[in-house]
Amino acid sequence: MRSDVTMQQLDEDLLQALLDVAVADADPHEVMPPVAGPAGWTAERRAAFSRFHQSRSLSAEPVETTYAIVVGEAVVGAARLCPLEGAEHAVEAGVWIGRSYRGSGVGRAVLSHLLILARTEGFDSLFLSTKPDNTASQRLLSAMGIDPVREGDAVTAWVDLIAAG
Ligand SMILES: CC(C)(COP(=O)(O)OP(=O)(O)OC[C@H]1O[C@@H](n2cnc3c(N)ncnc32)[C@H](O)[C@@H]1OP(=O)(O)O)[C@@H](O)C(=O)NCCC(=O)NCCS
Repeated sequence: MRSDVTMQQLDEDLLQALLDVAVADADPHEVMPPVAGPAGWTAERRAAFSRFHQSRSLSAEPVETTYAIVVGEAVVGAARLCPLEGAEHAVEAGVWIGRSYRGSGVGRAVLSHLLILARTEGFDSLFLSTKPDNTASQRLLSAMGIDPVREGDAVTAWVDLIAAG
């Protein structure tokens, strides 16, 4: 497991670094909800990326915790933990990593950190969801001993944080 991967809770400075990485090293659809308009990192999409994180993680009443993924000194992506409505002590995890850092074990280290963070924050179970064509995500789960199941247009997995601890 890589030991040079750390997670830093998002703040305004890290958000700017995160936007820079997203624009330079990821596609919008990998890192944010859809925004209408021409493809690519338009001014509208950059602004929407910042607003998305400000409203969800940096507001007075955040709905999720977002972490900048840091390798050495470099911000390379983001991960999030979002408590699931209607499922007590359950949290959904998400992650994206910049293209130039994919496939080198960062995702595996991030998922390990997320499991520990979620457990430390008092959650009992962690939910993950991806698309059937996202081979990297499914390989990542398998490599961590997590068995995903196909549910229609999604591939999902639940991790029992109590048993896994
Ligand atoms: C999915 C993602 C987070 C995986 O992170 P990563 O750092 O690339 O993954 P790792 O290098 O830790 O690899 C974990 C496992 O997946 C495999 N893997 C990684 N990328 C792969 C790819 N493109 N195709 C097939 N397998 C892949 C690795 O071989 C490894 O398996 P192994 O241990 O059995 O060899 C990353 O690719 C990413 O950010 N993708 C774009 C955004 C995204 O899809 N996010 C998830 C949405 S649910």
